[in-house]
Amino acid sequence: MLNFSFHNPTKIHFGEDQISMVGDEIPSDANVLVVYGGGSIKRNGVYDQVVAALTDHTWFEFSGIEPNPRYETLMKAQELIKQHNIDYLLAVGGGSVVDGAKFIAAAALYEGDDAWNILAKQEPVEKALPIGAVLTLPATGSESNGNSVVTREGNKLPFSSPLVCPQFAVLDPKVTLSLSDRQISNGVVDAFVHVMEQYLTYSVNAKVQDRFAEGLLQTLIEEGPKALKAETKEDLSIRANIMWSATMALNGLIGAGVPQDWSTHMIGHELTGSFNIDHARTLSIVLPAVMKVKREDKRDKLIQYADRVWGITEGSDEQKIAKAIALTEDFFKNMGVPTRLSDVNLNQQHIPDLIEKLEQHGMVALGEHSDIDLNVSKKILETAC
Ligand code: NZQ
Ligand code: ZN
Repeated sequence: MLNFSFHNPTKIHFGEDQISMVGDEIPSDANVLVVYGGGSIKRNGVYDQVVAALTDHTWFEFSGIEPNPRYETLMKAQELIKQHNIDYLLAVGGGSVVDGAKFIAAAALYEGDDAWNILAKQEPVEKALPIGAVLTLPATGSESNGNSVVTREGNKLPFSSPLVCPQFAVLDPKVTLSLSDRQISNGVVDAFVHVMEQYLTYSVNAKVQDRFAEGLLQTLIEEGPKALKAETKEDLSIRANIMWSATMALNGLIGAGVPQDWSTHMIGHELTGSFNIDHARTLSIVLPAVMKVKREDKRDKLIQYADRVWGITEGSDEQKIAKAIALTEDFFKNMGVPTRLSDVNLNQQHIPDLIEKLEQHGMVALGEHSDIDLNVSKKILETAC
C-alpha cells in the first residue's frame, strides 16, 4: 500500500426527511445563498423542504446553474454575494450545482486578476466560502469531495481544493425518485467508473481498498438496473444503496494509498466540452477502450476484477479478461448508455480535434504510469469508434 493521509471533513446526514437538518448545520447568523439548477427542486418538493429548514436564517437564492456548469453563469452569483454579504453557500441539486457552488465559493474570495485562473492555470485556492449541500442526484461524489469541474467556451476543466469540500451534506434517497431514467443511468455509471479509475491500475496489495471497491462495483451492478425497472423503481432501499455507493465511490476512501488512473474522465471531459455529451455517457464510451488498450499494464487487476466482481473463474487469463470487458460493456448497455463513439454519431474524423484539445489542456501524460500520451489517447479513441 502507498503512504497516505486521509481526511474527509463532510458530515453526512443520510436518510428520509433529513433535509430538516440543514437549519442546524448552518450558523444561525450566516447570510446564506441557496444555489440551485434549472428548477427540478421546485417540482419535487426539495425547495420547499429547504425553505422550511431555513425559516430562522437570512437567505437569498441564485438559480440557473446548468448541467456542466458554465463559468459565465457562476460568475453572475458574485454580484449577489457582494450585495448581501453572503458568507455561506447551500448547494441544492446534482453534481453540477455542487461543483458550481464550489467555484462560486472560491471565486468569491479570490484576490487575483481573473478567477478563471483557478481552472486554467490551476492557481491554488487560498480561501473559499463554506459550503453545505443537499444532494438530489447520486453520481459524482461532489457532495463530499473537494473537486469541481467548470466549462468555459468548450473547455471543461477541473480544479480541486480541500477548502471547497462541503462541510455537511444531506443525502435523502427519496428525493432521487423524481430523476429521469437517463439521470439514474448516468449516476450509476459515473459512480461505477469512479470506482474503476481508483481500482483498475496495478496491485499495491491494498486489500481493504480493493475489497471496498469491489463491493461498491457489485452493489452498483446489482442495484443499478433495479432502479430502472418499473416493478422496483420506487424502492427506496435500492435508491439508498445507489446513493451511498456513489458518495463512497469518490470521497477519498477507496482512493487512499492506491495508484489511480483518471484517463477515462480526462478524455471524457473533451467529449463533453466539444460535443455536449452527458458526463457519464462519455465515460461508458471511453472506459471499455481504456481497458482494451491498457490490457497488458492492467492485466493482474483485470483478472482480479473478472474473478471477484463478475465471478469469472473458468478459462485462460486472456479469456477471463475478454469476458470481464464484455460484461462491463453489457452492464453499460443494460443501463441504457452508449459504449461506442458511433452510438453518439461520432467517428474517426472527430478524433484529431479531440487530441488537440487534450494537448491544449495539458492532458498529455495520463494514467497510473503517466504513459497515456496523445498517441495512446488517439488509440483509445480509435478503439472506442
Ligand atoms: O438543473 P435541475 O433542474 O436541478 O435538473 C438537473 C439536471 O438537469 C436534474 N436533476 C438533478 N436532481 C434531480 C433532477 N431532476 C429530477 N429530480 C432530481 N432529484 O438532472 C440533470 C443533471 O444534473 P447534473 O447535476 O448535471 O448531474 P450530475 O450529478 O451527473 O453532475 C454532472 C457534473 O458533475 C461533474 C461532471 O463533469 C458534470 O459537470 N463531475 C463532478 C465530479 C466531482 N465534483 O467530484 C466528479 C465527476 O466525475 C464529474 O466530473
Ligand atoms: Zn465522473
